[in-house]
Amino acid sequence: MSEEIAKLTLLVPLFEEGRLVCSVEEAASIGHVVVMEVDGHGEICDMWVKPEYRGWHYGSRLLETAIQWLRDRGCEDVVLHVETDNKVALHLYRKAGFTETRKEYHMRRLLGE
Ligand SMILES: CC(C)(COP(=O)(O)OP(=O)(O)OC[C@H]1O[C@@H](n2cnc3c(N)ncnc32)[C@H](O)[C@@H]1OP(=O)(O)O)[C@@H](O)C(=O)NCCC(=O)NCCS
Repeated sequence: MSEEIAKLTLLVPLFEEGRLVCSVEEAASIGHVVVMEVDGHGEICDMWVKPEYRGWHYGSRLLETAIQWLRDRGCEDVVLHVETDNKVALHLYRKAGFTETRKEYHMRRLLGE
């Protein structure tokens, strides 16, 4: 089984009035995506953008970066899990061409006496 996993961070230097205000090291903390390749199939395991940078399309860029990473490895598809009430993430994924494959339940059993 071939397996590769990467945490890709967003390297976006920030400019304000034409002046660089954020070093590459600081810019890297804007957000990250964790992506995995197993036997020609991709999975996006986690994606996160710092709250103050949300809504600036960094999430979309992270997602495209992850998809390109998988394409470069010859993957034929990519899956991910998203909570049904995560409206922003759902919008982002649908816009990027993801479609629903199945619904799942989270199940729990209390183990007390
Ligand atoms: C999901 C997440 C990564 C999106 O990152 P982001 O940088 O804000 O995403 P974008 O700026 O690329 O926005 C994507 C779309 O959602 C829309 N959007 C962003 N914030 C929104 C908000 N608060 N309400 C409604 N729509 C919103 C944007 O307008 C954009 O749509 P558009 O391209 O049609 O204009 C970010 O919100 C996040 O880190 N959330 C917490 C962690 C999380 O839920 N991760 C996903 C786990 S599956």
